[in-house]
Amino acid sequence: MNGNRLSFWFSLGACGLAVLFAFTGARAQSTPPQASASNAAAPKLAEQEFKNIQALKGIPSDQLIPAMQFIAASLGVECEYCHVARAFDKDDKKPKVTARKMIAMMMAINKENFEGHRVVTCYSCHRGSAAPVGIPIITDEEPKPAAAEGKQPGEEKPVLPAADQLLDKYLSSVGGAAALQKITTRVEKGSLTMFGDRHVPVEVFAKAPDKRYSVMHLPGGDSVTAYNGKVGWQSINSQPPRVRMSTPAENAAASIDADIYFPAHLKSLYEKFQVQPGEKISGRDTYLVIGEREGQPPIKLYLDTESGLLLRLVRYAESPLGRLPTQVDYADYRDANGVKIPFRWTLARPGNRFTIQVDDVQQNVPVDDAKFVPPPPPAPPPQTAPAKP
Ligand code: HEC
Ligand code: HEC
Repeated sequence: MNGNRLSFWFSLGACGLAVLFAFTGARAQSTPPQASASNAAAPKLAEQEFKNIQALKGIPSDQLIPAMQFIAASLGVECEYCHVARAFDKDDKKPKVTARKMIAMMMAINKENFEGHRVVTCYSCHRGSAAPVGIPIITDEEPKPAAAEGKQPGEEKPVLPAADQLLDKYLSSVGGAAALQKITTRVEKGSLTMFGDRHVPVEVFAKAPDKRYSVMHLPGGDSVTAYNGKVGWQSINSQPPRVRMSTPAENAAASIDADIYFPAHLKSLYEKFQVQPGEKISGRDTYLVIGEREGQPPIKLYLDTESGLLLRLVRYAESPLGRLPTQVDYADYRDANGVKIPFRWTLARPGNRFTIQVDDVQQNVPVDDAKFVPPPPPAPPPQTAPAKP
């Protein structure tokens, strides 16, 4: 992938700084400051916050960007495929007009055929392409006989351990609850690799129980993704600096990543768990434990059948049009102050992926609380707005 500038930015923060620019621009123009203050209690609707909403009327305004991310991931395109830079409300690109019809079509399909459940999504047809394929594909691969997959009709189902047992084993494999509780802060230094050959220095500062601040030192300024246990934000230290507060879906994800005691908290975070055979990850056999809770997307945990360690976590961000997956693979577990932590992780989403390799870990060292104070909201737009056509 020879990522252009946009996809480079896109890969950086959780969900990207391209969105950041889009979002702050659209907001500043459409929201008088008084309106947001007086309506603080009732969540704003997309059509109140943005200028030209027709198909997605009625969704909360903070769900619009996740819906857009879902569309872009489903079609395998960037925002620019449908939008003119800095004028997201304009309808002058044909794919945007088509997409609006498609949203209405998708909703009608689900209403008429699936009792209104969101079964069919953009991805059901598009599969990562703007042009869906309607004819079955002839592949180059030899068809696999059913036996090779180990699935003979009538064959006994594998006996799987109970979820509780696997979660207990995971906790003890990382050192146990008592050892974990002794960790109050963690500072990691390393490098981030994307597109195979770009390396960026990174630092991650974590503070118990659930604060996390990660910074990438980019040539153009530091890029920060942070979560303080309540709210999260992304900022880039450019001229002028850019800040975007995280959406609720991003905060839910950040609360998992930021939880220093995650292996010990797991059982109480989800209401029920089920176990399935997991796929092989880097040559290791796994059990898949799926955690579920009311009104929230599930979480998938792939645990090494031998060591018990977490090798992969898949979580989902809800959007009005479908769920966006994020997959984190953990590797290079090493001992640090009596707990086992991954020194390498790869975070992947549809269309982008990066790996962080940690070289140095220090725990129980001071971490300044100032890092977890959200930055002030962006300055109001200048009075002399750029000329509009
Ligand atoms: C396949 C086409 C498509 C792609 C790709 C797409 N959008 Fe959209 N976008 C739309 C449509 C259609 C609407 C209008 C929705 C409606 O009418 O309710 C819209 C509306 C918006 C709006 C509201 C503008 C306003 O003020 O009315 C913003 C902001 C936005 N998109 C941002 C993005 C971002 C950021 C991305 C990339 C992550 C993106 N879009 C990708 C089709 C697209
Ligand atoms: C039931 C299948 C189906 C679903 C669901 C679906 N699409 Fe499509 N979409 C198609 C087909 C088929 C085409 C191609 C039509 C053609 O070739 O004229 C298409 C074309 C498009 C195009 C035009 C591409 C171009 O540039 O020519 C856009 C944009 C688009 N879809 C967006 C979406 C979005 C956004 C969603 C989800 C809200 C969605 N589609 C859901 C089947 C679907």
